[in-house]
Amino acid sequence: MQPNRYLNEFYQSYDEDLRLTTRHGSVEFLTTMRYLERYLKPGDRLLEVGAGTGRYAHALARRGFSVDAVELVEHNIELFQKNTAPQEQISVVQGDARDLSAFSDNQYDKTLLLGPLYHLYSFEDKRRAIHEAIRVTRPGGVVFAAYVISDGCLIDEGFRRGNIDVADYLKRGLLDPENFAAHSEPKDLFELVRKEDIDALMRPFAVKRLHYVASDGCALLLRDEIDRMDEETFRLFLNYHFAVCEREDLVGITSHALDIFQK
Ligand SMILES: C[S@@+](CC[C@H](N)C(=O)[O-])C[C@H]1O[C@@H](n2cnc3c(N)ncnc32)[C@H](O)[C@@H]1O
Repeated sequence: MQPNRYLNEFYQSYDEDLRLTTRHGSVEFLTTMRYLERYLKPGDRLLEVGAGTGRYAHALARRGFSVDAVELVEHNIELFQKNTAPQEQISVVQGDARDLSAFSDNQYDKTLLLGPLYHLYSFEDKRRAIHEAIRVTRPGGVVFAAYVISDGCLIDEGFRRGNIDVADYLKRGLLDPENFAAHSEPKDLFELVRKEDIDALMRPFAVKRLHYVASDGCALLLRDEIDRMDEETFRLFLNYHFAVCEREDLVGITSHALDIFQK
C-alpha cells in the first residue's frame, strides 16, 4: 500500500526528526519512554509500526533491544536509515499498519503503534491497525498505541495559535456544532479523537488496559513557558506531569494520548 499524497507531501516538508527534540516536544518522548521502560525486559523483541524517522526505534536499539520497524513514507525511511548507528540491531521495511502480513502471529514482546492512528480516518482502518498490532504481539506482550486528541489540539492549534480555523472547521462539517467532536479526511492530515472514541475502538479486543496516559498533557499549551524554564523548573514540571498524566480529570486536555494494553 502507498501513502496518500497528503501524507507524502506533509512528511516531505515537515521536520518529523525535530518534533520531539524541542523542550516542550520532549515531554511526549520522555513520557512514552518512561512507560516503555516500565515494561521492557532484557532480550525483548520490539516492533515499531509507523516508526517515522526512528526516534523511538533508534533510542531502544541503542539500549540493546532488537527492533523491527515498519514505515509507510519513503522519505521517513531514508531518514530512519541515515539515523541508524552501526551497533544497532534494527531493521526497517516499507509497509502499512493495516496489513502486517509480512509478520507472523505472536512474535513480539512489545509493539509500538505511535503514529499510524494519527492518519487513519475510518473506524475500520483504525481497528485493522490495532488488530494487526495485537496479532503480532505474543500473549502477555504489551502494545503502546498513540492518538492525537481533539480538545488539546483545538485549544492549542485552533484557539491559541490559529493553525486550525475552528470557525471554518465548523462550516465544513469537520466539527460537530453541538459537542465539537471532530471528523477528519485525508486532506486534513490528522485524525482527532477523544477518549470515548478510543474506548469504542478497543471494545471488541480481548486485551487488558494497563494505562491511559496524557502523554504531553498541557506541554503544548505551555510551549513558550516550558521552553523558557531553567533546568530545575523543567525537572519540577516533568515530575508534576508524570504525577498527573493518568488523572481522569486531566487526560482530555492533552494533545497526544497513549493507550497501553496487554494481550
Ligand atoms: C507523527 S509520526 C510518528 C513517528 C514515530 N512513531 C514517533 O512517534 O516519533 C507518524 C508516522 O506514522 C506513519 N504512518 C502513517 N500512516 C501509516 C500507516 N498506515 N502505516 C504505517 N505507517 C504510517 C507516518 O508516515 C509517520 O512516519
